[in-house]
Amino acid sequence: MKITKTLLAASLISAVTPASAGEVEVLHWWTAGGEANAISVLKDMLEQQGYSWIDFGVEGGGGESAMRVLRTRAVSGNPPSAANIKGPDIQEWARLGFLTNLNSVANPEHWDDVIPKMITNVMKYDNHYVAVPVNVHRVNWLWANSEVFAKAGAKIPTSMDEFFTAADKIKAIGLIPLAHGSQPWQNATLFEVIALDVLGAKDYIKAFVDLDMDTLGGEKMIEVFTQFKRVRSYVDNNSPGRDWMTATSMVIKGEAGMQIMGDWAKGEFSAAGKVPGKDYVCAPAFGTAGKFTYNVDSFAFFDLQDEENFKAQQALASTILDPKFQEVFNLNKGSIPVRLDMDMSHFDQCALDSMREFKSSAKTGDLVPSMAHGMSTTSYVQSAMFDVITNFFNNPNETPKEAVQRLTKVVKSSM
Ligand code: GAL
Repeated sequence: MKITKTLLAASLISAVTPASAGEVEVLHWWTAGGEANAISVLKDMLEQQGYSWIDFGVEGGGGESAMRVLRTRAVSGNPPSAANIKGPDIQEWARLGFLTNLNSVANPEHWDDVIPKMITNVMKYDNHYVAVPVNVHRVNWLWANSEVFAKAGAKIPTSMDEFFTAADKIKAIGLIPLAHGSQPWQNATLFEVIALDVLGAKDYIKAFVDLDMDTLGGEKMIEVFTQFKRVRSYVDNNSPGRDWMTATSMVIKGEAGMQIMGDWAKGEFSAAGKVPGKDYVCAPAFGTAGKFTYNVDSFAFFDLQDEENFKAQQALASTILDPKFQEVFNLNKGSIPVRLDMDMSHFDQCALDSMREFKSSAKTGDLVPSMAHGMSTTSYVQSAMFDVITNFFNNPNETPKEAVQRLTKVVKSSM
C-alpha cells in the first residue's frame, strides 16, 4: 500500500511559478518499494511548486555506490543540487568547500527551534546550515513474522539467549531463522546491534565514536565477535550478495522468521500492505530495549552557480522540513519525523515506540549513532571496520581474537 499524496492534496502550496523555474537534481539510493514511494513525495511536492526534478537514484542499499558516483561527479565540477550525505561526512564535504549556505531558509523558518540540537550540530558547518535532515531511522530493530512464530511456538526474543531459543524453534520447523544479506553494510548493521547489547551504550560510544583503542581491542569486543559468529550460524547459505529488501521479503512471505534491520524495512512491510502487531512484529533487537541507534538521513546542498537553480534548492530545503512532507515521507519510509513538533496521530505503533524511545534514550545516555550508517565516524574509518567485520563473517577460520586485533590495526591506520 502506497501511503500517497491524498494526505497532501488539500494542503499543497499553490505556488506562483516563475517563468523559468529552476531544477533540482537529487542524489539518493532509495530504490526499494517503500523508499521509492517516500522519495516520490518530495519530487511531487517540488513539481507542484513549478520546479523540475531530475532523479539521480543510484541502486545499492546503505549508499556506498551512490557515494562513489557522487565523488566522481563532484570532483569533475558537476555536482547535483543535493545528495543524501550523512553524519561526519557532511563536515568533510563542507570543509572542502563543496557545500552552500542554507541560512537564508533556515533562519526565517526557525530550524533551530524545531530540530533537536544534536542533529542541527551535524547539519551545520561554521555556524551555517549546509544540510537538511529528513528523518530519524532507528537501526536496532527486530522484524518478525507473526505466523512463523506461532507455527514454531516461539516467543519474540528480548535477549540474545531468547533469540537463540526462538531461532532453534524456527529452524526445527524447516524455515530460515534469520533473513540476512551478506553485504558489508548489512553485516555491519547486524554487528553493531550485537555490539550495543554486549558493550552497552557507553562502551559502544567509546569504540565507534571515540575510536578508543582499549575498547576496540578489549575483551568485551572479543565477546561481540563471538556472539556475531553464533548469530551468523542462523543465516542461510544463499545470503552472499542478497539485498536487504530481498531479506525483508523473506520475512514478509514467511520463508524466514526474523530480520535485524533499521526501520526502512518497515517501509517494505507497509508497501506490501502488512500491518504491525498482526502480520508482523517490530521489537527492539535483542537486549537493546531502551537503547536507540540512530541513523538520520539528510541532504547536503552543493554550491551552484545558476541563480534559478539556487532558488529551486531553497524550495527543496524548505519542503523537506514542511510538516506535511515530514508526515507523508516518513509514513512511507518507516522512519519518524525529524521535527519534534509533529502530530503523530497517523503513525503506527512501531513509529510511536520509536519516537518515545528516541526521546527517552537521549535522557538516559542510551542514544547512540549508527556506525554502519555513517553516523559515528567518517567513511574512511567506517569502511575499515566494514572490511574487518565482513572478512570475519565470511571466514570460518578467523577467531574473534584475531578479528579484534585486525580491527584495532585497521582503525588506527585509517584515522
Ligand atoms: C541507510 C539509509 C536508509 C536506507 C538504508 C537502506 O543507510 O539511511 O535511508 O535507505 O540505508 O538502503
